[in-house]
Amino acid sequence: MNTDQQTVSPLLRVSDLEAGYGRLPVVRSLSIEVLPGEALALLGPNGHGKTTALRAISGLGRISSGQVVFDGSDITGMPAYTVVNHGMMHVPQGNQLFPRLTVRENLALAGAIPAARGQREETLEMIQRLFPKLQQRRGQLVGTLSGGERQMVAIGMGLMAKPKLLVLDEPTLGLAPKIRYEILDTLHEVRRLGLSLIVADGDIEFLFELTDRWHLVELGRIASSGTTDIKPSHEEVMDMYVGSRASSATNNIEGDRHV
Ligand SMILES: Nc1ncnc2c1ncn2[C@@H]1O[C@H](COP(=O)(O)OP(=O)(O)OP(=O)(O)O)[C@@H](O)[C@H]1O
Ligand SMILES: [Mg+2]
Repeated sequence: MNTDQQTVSPLLRVSDLEAGYGRLPVVRSLSIEVLPGEALALLGPNGHGKTTALRAISGLGRISSGQVVFDGSDITGMPAYTVVNHGMMHVPQGNQLFPRLTVRENLALAGAIPAARGQREETLEMIQRLFPKLQQRRGQLVGTLSGGERQMVAIGMGLMAKPKLLVLDEPTLGLAPKIRYEILDTLHEVRRLGLSLIVADGDIEFLFELTDRWHLVELGRIASSGTTDIKPSHEEVMDMYVGSRASSATNNIEGDRHV
């Protein structure tokens, strides 16, 4: 990864994003950047707007104001199917798959978008190498897979779109520690392919193992930020997740807290 923020243009730049439901703003003045090849973690207490922000960025949810620039194009307010063709793929929380189709059929469907269609067979081979379990279970109906296997299919479907940026919302939700490590290993491989990641997850150890930088999202805003080279203590994690003041929890705060 190149960390020279002076010379490398961000792959994604989100400026002053506001998003919510009806008239209720959930995300307020949220600004983030992701460099090519970089992995960014969004962490924070439940219900504070991580999913809402990610959905607005990737076109699955509405944006009230702000701007999203991706790979040199202004994609603000574009629908998800257009955003995918620009190279940003969102793997949603609670992986939404086709339970009555097989593993291979689910993967093939995700590779049907114009930007990826030409290389579908080749990408399928690559994903099956990345997830040997999916190769073994390629003919099995997705509705009969374990939670961990379904998550692997969801990530595989994300990769089928040949993205430059993969947005992963809660990829380890409800998974046993052993399976989380498997997912972690695979996502390290994905990073080696040169993809950028944004990951929201409740498992802070997983996030710190996988990513380069983190933002704490509280009340829809970036409350604090840092790099993942220094692991937080148990007390610091509690501060972040229980939502008490985290000023002492940050190893290298970049922004002011807004709450
Ligand atoms: N479709 C919806 N309609 C109305 N309110 C919603 C909707 N989806 C989410 N919300 C509300 O928006 C707020 C933020 O939810 P969001 O899912 O973005 O939080 P989160 O940080 O991703 O939480 P978690 O860590 O539990 O995944 C919550 O108060 C939630 O109840
Ligand atoms: Mg969420």
